[in-house]
Formats: sequence, C-alpha cells, structure tokens
Amino acid sequence: MELDSVLVLLLVFSSSCLTLFASEEIIEVGKSITSNQKMVSAGGTFALGFFTPGNSTFSYLGIWYNTIPRQTVVWVANRESPIPQHSTAVFTIGDDGNLVLFDEKDKLIWSSNVSSTNSTIGALLDNGNLVLTHGESNILWQSFEHPTDTFLPEMKIGYNRKTGKRIMINSWTSNEDPRPGNFSFGIDPEGRPRFYIFKQNSIHFRFDDTYEYLGGNLRGTAWYLSIVSQNDEVYLTYGHIKGWITLRVFVDPAGHLQVLSWTQYANKWKFIFQVPQTLCDIYAQCGPFGSCGGLTSELCMCLTGFKPKFSTDWDNGKWTDGCVRKVALGCDGKDRFLKYENMKLPDHTISFGHMSVHECETQCIRNCSCSAYAYLNSTCLIWFGDLLDLGRNYSNGRVLNVRVHGSEPITHGGSGYSAHRQKNFIARIVSAICAILVLISFILFISKRRLRRQGWKNGTKALIRSVSSLYSVEKSDIKLLQYNLQKIREATNDFHGENKLGEGGFGPVFKGFLAEVGDIAIKRLSRRSSQGLEEFMNELKLIAKLQHKNLVSLLGCCVEGEEKILIYEYMSNCSLDKFLFDPSLKVSLNWGTRFGIIEGISQGMLYLHKYSRLKVIHRDLKASNILLDNEMIPKISDFGMARIFGTDQTQANTNRVVGTYGYMSPEYVVYGQFSEKSDVFSFGVLLLEILSGQRNSDFLMTEISASLLGWAWNKWKEGRILELIDPSVRETCDSNKATRCILVALLCVQEIPIDRPTMSDIVVMLSNETMLIPEPKEPAFRSSWQAPQLTDVSINEMTVTLPKPR
Ligand SMILES: *[C@@H]1O[C@H](CO)[C@@H](O)[C@H](O)[C@H]1NC(C)=O
Ligand SMILES: *[C@@H]1O[C@H](CO)[C@@H](O)[C@H](O)[C@H]1NC(C)=O
Ligand SMILES: *[C@@H]1O[C@H](CO)[C@@H](O)[C@H](O)[C@H]1NC(C)=O
Ligand SMILES: *[C@@H]1O[C@H](CO)[C@@H](O)[C@H](O)[C@H]1NC(C)=O
Ligand SMILES: *[C@@H]1O[C@H](CO)[C@@H](O)[C@H](O)[C@H]1NC(C)=O
Ligand SMILES: *[C@@H]1O[C@H](CO)[C@@H](O)[C@H](O)[C@H]1NC(C)=O
Ligand SMILES: *[C@@H]1O[C@H](CO)[C@@H](O)[C@H](O)[C@H]1NC(C)=O
Repeated sequence: MELDSVLVLLLVFSSSCLTLFASEEIIEVGKSITSNQKMVSAGGTFALGFFTPGNSTFSYLGIWYNTIPRQTVVWVANRESPIPQHSTAVFTIGDDGNLVLFDEKDKLIWSSNVSSTNSTIGALLDNGNLVLTHGESNILWQSFEHPTDTFLPEMKIGYNRKTGKRIMINSWTSNEDPRPGNFSFGIDPEGRPRFYIFKQNSIHFRFDDTYEYLGGNLRGTAWYLSIVSQNDEVYLTYGHIKGWITLRVFVDPAGHLQVLSWTQYANKWKFIFQVPQTLCDIYAQCGPFGSCGGLTSELCMCLTGFKPKFSTDWDNGKWTDGCVRKVALGCDGKDRFLKYENMKLPDHTISFGHMSVHECETQCIRNCSCSAYAYLNSTCLIWFGDLLDLGRNYSNGRVLNVRVHGSEPITHGGSGYSAHRQKNFIARIVSAICAILVLISFILFISKRRLRRQGWKNGTKALIRSVSSLYSVEKSDIKLLQYNLQKIREATNDFHGENKLGEGGFGPVFKGFLAEVGDIAIKRLSRRSSQGLEEFMNELKLIAKLQHKNLVSLLGCCVEGEEKILIYEYMSNCSLDKFLFDPSLKVSLNWGTRFGIIEGISQGMLYLHKYSRLKVIHRDLKASNILLDNEMIPKISDFGMARIFGTDQTQANTNRVVGTYGYMSPEYVVYGQFSEKSDVFSFGVLLLEILSGQRNSDFLMTEISASLLGWAWNKWKEGRILELIDPSVRETCDSNKATRCILVALLCVQEIPIDRPTMSDIVVMLSNETMLIPEPKEPAFRSSWQAPQLTDVSINEMTVTLPKPR
C-alpha cells in the first residue's frame, strides 16, 4: 500500500494534482512575493522566498525546507544574478506568462523563460517543485528540470532522448555563493545509464555500479532508488515513504556528492555518506594502464608489462599521464593475458554478450586494439584502447585479463612496476613504518574501547593491560585457536567458489574441513569494508566470551596481513530462512520443531541480554542469522553488529544505523536508538515469520496487507488468530501454544519500546501455560520503515536494475 502511494506520486507529480492548490502555494497574475514574504507548499514542507546565505551581501530567490529550523536551501532561481542586500526584488508572473523576478528598478533579473503563453499559474508543490502551468495539467516549466545543487526525492536526474536535454545538479561556488561551481552530478553525456560526478567537463568520480553503490548505502532506510529507462528518457530517481526522515542529497562545492539526514532531536543534519571518499575514488587517478589502490607510498602502479609514460612525473606523484607498454602488442596471435584479481574494472567497457571464456578471449585477440577482457556471469566484457580508472585490491572486485606482448612472463595478479631497486628499498621501509603505525592504532583502538567500557583512569596501565590481553586470548577461559592462513586455504580449497555457503554481513562464508575438528564454517571479512576491523574485533571479543547452547560457537580465528577470518562450528542445516521460506523444505519444520526453535532463540537472547557476563544487544536478529544444527537446534549467529552495554545501561544511540529492513524497530531506524527492546522488536518479527512461514519483506508485494505485522494485527482483531499459522502446520499445532506465541509476537512489535516485554518476560510467557498475557495494542506496522529493501524491488515494469557488468 505504501509502495503504491509512492508509485502514484511518482507518476502523478508531473500532472494532475494542481486542482488541489490552496492560495498560499500559488502565484498568479496580480500576486507577488517580495522581501520577507514567502510562499508555502500545500503540505507545509517547502517554502519559497528570499534568503541570504551565510555572511553574503547578496540575496536570492530560493526554495528551502519550511519544516526545518536550520534554513537549508534546495533550489535557487537567480543563482547567477544576485540581488544586492537591502534592495528589494519582486517575484511574480510576468506579462508574457513567465515566472519572473524584477529588481527595484523593474529590471528583469530572472525569468523561467519559456515561449510566452497567457493565463498561467505558478505553484510550489509539496515535493519542492516550483511549477509554471497552463490550465490544469500542462506544465510549461518546473524547477525540477532546472535544479541547482540538490537532488530532491522524486526529481529525475537523467537524459531526455527526444530533446537531448540532460538534467544534472551542480554545486555552489562556495557555501555562501550559489553561483554555479565546478562540480556536477549527472548521467553519461551520451545518455547511457551510468552516473558520474563531473568536474567542469571531465569526469571526477564514476559510480562503479550506481545502483549498488547508492542503493547499498540506502539499504535499511525508508528509501528507494531506481534507474528508469524508457523510450524517451533515462533517469535516476529516488524517494521515500512519506513523513519520516528527510534526506538531503547534494553536491558540495568541493565536489562530493553528500547524503545527509535531518535529525530532529539533535536539530542538525547528520552525515550519512559521501563520494568520492578516497584518493582512488577520483576518476583515472593513475592514468591509462595505472591501477590505484592502497594507502601507502605506491598509490599508483603500472600494470605488469607497462612503464610510466613520464617516469620523473610518475615518481613525483604526478600520475595522470599513466603508463605505456614496454613492448608493443604483437597482434600476431602470440599476445597473452595477465590475470588480475579483485580489480575495479576500467571504464568504457563493451559487452559482447554470452559466450564461453575461450570465445571471449578470442574476440579480444582478434582485434589489435583490444586491451583487456573480463568474463562475468558468462558475459564477455571487452575494453579497447586505454584502460582507465582501474582499481586494485578492490572488494567486490572482479577478474580482469590484460593483454600484453607474448614475451611478457606469465604472472598472476601481476605485481606492480617499481622504478629501481633503491625505490624498492625505500618502499620496504615505508611499509614497515606503516605496519608499525597500523599496529599502534590497532592497540589504541583496543585500549580506547576497553577504556570506555571499564572506565579506567590510568591510560598507560590500560594500554599495557589491553595489549597483553590481546596476546593472551588463548589463555583466557575459552580456548580460542589461532589458525594460519595456509591451513585455512587448504581447508577451503583456496576459498573455492564451490565451498561458499553464503554471504554474511561483512563478507563471504565458506565451508571447510580441518582434520582436528571436522567440518567448519569460515567467515572471511571482505577486504574493502572499512568497518571490517572494528566489526571483526567486536565479534571476536564478544563471542569468545559468550557460550550458550543457542549461540553459535567460535572455534578460532586467523589474522594474517589483510586477511581476517573467523572459524565457527559448522551447522549442517544452514540457516532458518532456508527452511522457513522454502515451500518444499518448510514441511520438515513441524509444529514441535518450530516451537523448539522459538524457545531456543528466546533462551539465546535471554542469555545475551541478561545472563552472560556482558549485556549484549545483537542488533541484527533475523531468520538468516539463526543457524540450525543437525538436530534443528537454533544457534544465533553474526555478532558483527552487536554492542555491549554496561550492566545498568538501557539505551544507546548510533550514527550508523545498521540492520535489516523489516526487523528494525522504529526508534532504531528513525533515531538510531537501540536497546534490548529493539532486539525484542526483531524477535517479534522473527516469531511471526516462524509461525506464519511468511517473510515480512514479501508482504509489500501482495495485496493482503502492507506488512506481516499489519496482517497479523488484523487477524488478531478479527479473532481469527489461528489463520496466521503456516498452513503446513495449522492442523497439527497446539492451538493454545500457538495463540500465546502470536500474542507475544504482537507485544514484541509494539511501537513504543516500553510497551514491549523483556526477554525474560517473553521466556516466561512462552513457557508458562497459565500466565496471563497482556492484550497487545496496535503494533508499529503502518510506518515507512516496513518497506522492503527497495533496491531489490522493481517499483514497476519500467524500472530496470543495471546489470552488474557494464
Ligand atoms: C560569518 O562571519 C562571522 C564573523 O566574521 C564568522 O564567525 C562566521 O563563521 C561567518 N559565517 C559563515 C557562514 O562563514
Ligand atoms: C531566454 O532564452 C533565450 C533563448 O532561449 C535567451 O537568448 C535569453 O537570454 C533567455 N533570457 C533570459 C532572461 O534568461
Ligand atoms: C492569449 O490571449 C489572447 C487574447 O486574450 C488570445 O488571442 C491568445 O490566443 C492567447 N494565447 C494563448 C497561447 O492562449
Ligand atoms: C574551478 O576550477 C578552476 C580551475 O581548476 C579554479 O580556478 C576555480 O577556482 C574553481 N572554482 C571553484 C569555485 O572552486
Ligand atoms: C576493433 O575494434 C574497434 C572498436 O570496436 C573497431 O573500431 C575496429 O573496427 C575493430 N577492428 C577490427 C579489425 O575488427
Ligand atoms: C547471471 O545471468 C543470468 C542470466 O542473464 C541472470 O539471471 C543472473 O541474475 C545473473 N547473475 C548475476 C549474479 O548477475
Ligand atoms: C594488492 O594487489 C597486489 C597485486 O596487484 C598484491 O601484490 C598485494 O599483495 C595486494 N595488497 C594487498 C594489501 O592486498
């Protein structure tokens, strides 16, 4: 239902809602706005009027959020022709029917400048779009087609194939000067669905995979993002389900595309993310055939078989000219390919469609200007000429095969070029220093956390203690084994794809076999994830101290170089979601098994919240994090996001809301507040999923109800509570127990945390047949955060997901 309304909004915002205008949001002949007057949109969200940015001595006509106390301008009309302060300007409808701005002397400062028409009306819509219309539905001009630096929800950034018009957002010159700056965000100049940040006319940043990049960062919020490709136009748009969070997406004067969200309680814009983030994010940082990676002295390296075009410049850190071949290609059928793994693939690929690897290679060999190929998902991608914007050691990276002359020795993952030995020597010293720095910051990181947790006053003492504790993990009460990487590689056949069990929050999980312990599950942290180390240490420290029948147990770990690996007991029955949501497998979850799983999870959670030596908030409880052993005993896993609370602490805030959509409580999604009660909320959703065999996130797709919680609430209200139970166990279930479970679940998903029971209440209510259960109130199901991960959803048939290889 929510999604539908977004759809409707999307489709309609350029047409029919004009009849709804009240007088404050329109401007017509004879009406005008000046000085301190403003126009406010119908829903009160946006205002249009005159403003002065910061300490500037000019004023401008613009649109800002009417609801946000800190004036945040999203659009400026006269960005190039400022009005001197203390002089008054007038905004009105001109004689030619345009929206116009006159200065004191009646000189035209700005005009919407469309070919003239009469009887027009200007209106400020509640999505921030200023429109000029003729009649009810004929939009002649709209500010969404002439944006400044802000990408508002429902706006389209893209390309009109008929008119050839591109719509981009463009940075201000400085925070106090809205004149067009050097940076823009928009689509590929030829209208291919690729998005870039441009610096003047050159590319500054490339969205490697726009959809995944932006979408991935929006995941877990109430937002969707889609790239729409139709006959006439291709564009990027995003939106939200009304009312909850205000996001601000804009290009700042320094060239970052920033995403902020408004936090009411803190009364400020909270930073969410920005690109470019690192030096290697800057487009073609290392020039043609140069690869960018790492933080150390050698940011740029030439691919094997290549040397810097200008070696003096290169050694001085001027990399943009890139590299050239040491030996020209033979084009005699003897050229060969060097294989690079984990690469950010270069820009400007051409897809040759489905074929075998061999054919793909042949396609490349055949044409002398072909310089590389990649083979992804049976699709052949080929590059001609220079390879630009290459990144190495890239997580989510791909294999790239680079063509070199046949005389080039075969190497794998080709090492980089080094100027001469001396430089090598220096590089070694530099990396040694770096290693030391990393070690120090690692130690500081540990001690900081410890300090915070235990409140030690004496920093030095704490430092010493924490360092020694780091090395004595094995000596602690639980034996945690360190494995070496070689052994892990052997156990998993070098992380062979066949052994991959799945993808966890921070990297892939593999199955392996160790002679001493038997089958194991290996979680390998992905390399790029910047949070990796923190999450890794978090999980390591946490789970090493936790031991419970319903928590997965950690057998060991491996930290070597970049690799961070956790080793767990292997669970032969995978995870709960595999059974629960599979029509054929769910049958094996009979009522007894389901109830056993529910009890097990509640015991595990109770232990985490109350009976372990620490108070642990899991923060990502969901069906796929419940593993099942061969006796179908549930084990809670994935402690990467878990947080430790002081014993008397009840709540905390985070700037980084992580978790899984549909399982997250409203106060966590909206305010980043988490507590035992946010885990209880997730437990409630999980409970309903186990009972009904329905995935919460599937609900938006159906007509039944907006969410599993809404559906459950309706059934409860109608007194048809047992209809919630999965048909495959409905006949055989213990109706008394089932009813109790549903009541408990509904209590767990109450909107207000205080209304939710604690895990100890839950355990009692589930096990004690006579205990009276309070009647639930309407749960928190109406709200926006119940939307699924919209990146996985087709908004409608127009929406296309970009294929991964480009
Ligand atoms: C405006 O000027 C004041 C005083 O010169 C300064 O403190 C303040 O930071 C300036 N504001 C902005 C937005 O630059
Ligand atoms: C209006 O558009 C025309 C051409 O389309 C241009 O020459 C003129 O300068 C524009 N006027 C204003 C006020 O922007
Ligand atoms: C504008 O108004 C004049 C007279 O009122 C009329 O003749 C003309 O057709 C109108 N033009 C448009 C585009 O509506
Ligand atoms: C834009 O780029 C030019 C050339 O690189 C530079 O001179 C100018 O200062 C830049 N403008 C802004 C607002 O940064
Ligand atoms: C090689 O590929 C380029 C780029 O697609 C093309 O322009 C050229 O005609 C091709 N040459 C041959 C011999 O196929
Ligand atoms: C691989 O290609 C197939 C067929 O085009 C597609 O259905 C599938 O989703 C692709 N897989 C990935 C991981 O892109
Ligand atoms: C990065 O990749 C190079 C090969 O391109 C490899 O030699 C090096 O070990 C990698 N570095 C890291 C930190 O993974």
